[in-house]
Amino acid sequence: MCGIVGYIGENQAAPILLDGLAKLEYRGYDSAGIAIYDGNEIRMEKVMGRLKVLEELTHGGETMPGCAGIGHTRWATHGCPSDTNAHPHFNKEHSIVVVHNGIIENYAKLKRKLEAKGYEFLSETDTEVLVHLLTEYYDGDPIAAIERVMRRVEGSYALGIMFLDHPHHIYAARKDSPLIVGASPVGNLIASDVPAILRYTRNVYYMENEEIVCLSKENIRFFNIDGDKLEKTPTTIDWDIDAAEKGGYEHFMLKEIYEQPKAVRDTISPRLKNNDVVIEELGMTDDELRAVRKISIVACGSAYHAGITGKYVLEGMARIPVEVDLASEFRYRNPIYEEGTLAIIISQSGETADSLAALREAKKHGVRVLGIVNVVGSSIAREADNVMYTWAGPEISVATTKAYSAQIAALYLLAMKFAKVRGTVSQEEFLKMQSDLEQLPEQIETLLGMKEKIQRFANRYLAADHMFFIGRGIDYAISLEGSLKLKEISYIHSEAYAAGELKHGTISLIEDGTLVVALATQENLYPKTISNIVEVKTRGAFVMAVTNFGHKEIEKTADYVIYIPKTNQFFTNSLAIIPLQLFGYYVSLGRGLDVDKPRNLAKSVTVE
Ligand code: G6P
Repeated sequence: MCGIVGYIGENQAAPILLDGLAKLEYRGYDSAGIAIYDGNEIRMEKVMGRLKVLEELTHGGETMPGCAGIGHTRWATHGCPSDTNAHPHFNKEHSIVVVHNGIIENYAKLKRKLEAKGYEFLSETDTEVLVHLLTEYYDGDPIAAIERVMRRVEGSYALGIMFLDHPHHIYAARKDSPLIVGASPVGNLIASDVPAILRYTRNVYYMENEEIVCLSKENIRFFNIDGDKLEKTPTTIDWDIDAAEKGGYEHFMLKEIYEQPKAVRDTISPRLKNNDVVIEELGMTDDELRAVRKISIVACGSAYHAGITGKYVLEGMARIPVEVDLASEFRYRNPIYEEGTLAIIISQSGETADSLAALREAKKHGVRVLGIVNVVGSSIAREADNVMYTWAGPEISVATTKAYSAQIAALYLLAMKFAKVRGTVSQEEFLKMQSDLEQLPEQIETLLGMKEKIQRFANRYLAADHMFFIGRGIDYAISLEGSLKLKEISYIHSEAYAAGELKHGTISLIEDGTLVVALATQENLYPKTISNIVEVKTRGAFVMAVTNFGHKEIEKTADYVIYIPKTNQFFTNSLAIIPLQLFGYYVSLGRGLDVDKPRNLAKSVTVE
């Protein structure tokens, strides 16, 4: 994954790079480094650990004077986290320096060839081949050298490069890893993502695959891989700068949990018009919607969990068969596309490597692709035939909350649209759904008011070894996400199980006191789930149940109960997930962990 940033302009570069890297730390945080041209030579500092180690080492950048530089925050792929493997990487003469996000797949072969030519490798990274290849091809023309390197390497990259010979320029190139360019009155910038440069500019150019850029203090020049000059138009980013700051909350995760009413409202409201769901971005006529015979949803992580909810909702409400796949599996399973298939790729970042590859696979088969994406202008948004944006705003915490909530809200809208045009719901049912949908933000707000209660409960489980989340139907989909939230930030082992499946093996893990979180929001499945609760209680489990208001009798079976407000059966996920997110957050907090940056993870997974 990794985050890269670069600056050239009138101001000191190091503080700008450190500030930008801080906004990109969600992409990786096992080491960080910067390289700055100081008027005489390129100097570099890089160190294992969080960015704050680098900040201390350089006194906030003060020890690294100069107005041009590149920086990197790493999520290790090739080579363990260490000072040596940290980026940037220099050539032997310290005349070329590189930062890289992505993976060079043919690096082993290239490394052997370069070693045979006498190049000495200092690190275990794939990136180091880039700097030696650049040295090999460089004859005074940086663009020509970069082009040749791009033709030799396979894999993905966003690169920031400096040449000592050209100290008044920084260079960058990309293929399959995100890279943006920002133009500001005090200089020009490159970065992996918008928040890194939002403080300096809102004018952003999106780099396409196999493009190169050369920045000076005053100019930005784009080239394709053949060295032809390109004209590009900037996009204005309208994100609120505060949205990417903590705004008084202890963690981004808590702030983002609290932003969910707004995220859901912003995703729903503009699309509810005149007693109808209007999704102009779908670009499909009612006849085309009626002609869809199958939907194929592909995503990773929580977005995949949103997809599973989408399956239950789309099939249940609109009676369309839906397949849901993990993108990393989908891309290599030779999927079968029937005529009339609509592919939906769900992604917060719009940059997840496997999801992007799945999108391309679907397009290769001539299937129409709809992206449900949060980051405007991201790769998936640009490559999909149509994009339905989730309006959750920037999400910084590695564990997603508000983007997930916005994704399921977008899927409800889609299901309602399909249901309406295909006549699987009556107008009366439709209007009731619409009103239930409109109430969700307020109901989420009410649930957020439970935070102290959940925190007290969470504090009882700080030393747990493992937990289970169970449910049926949509409750199973909620369990998957609740369990992931808990384990990714608390490091407590947790599994989600379809409640009826537990007895086929996993129930043997239930012991005296094991916490089982049972979701029971689906009225038609309620008695079945109660039976499953009884089964685990008989084996000694302590059961926390999440159910709808009105089911007071559940207190005779479950040990601890959280009630969610009444809503349409298809929408309960939006409410039941709130206490589970808070539970995960408070367990992590109580265990003294780094909630926003859990170990080994990164938010935007731009490698396979
Ligand atoms: C990472 C994040 C998850 C996210 C998943 C998919 O694993 O930590 O929160 O759900 O990637 O990311 P995407 O940006 O495609 O939604």
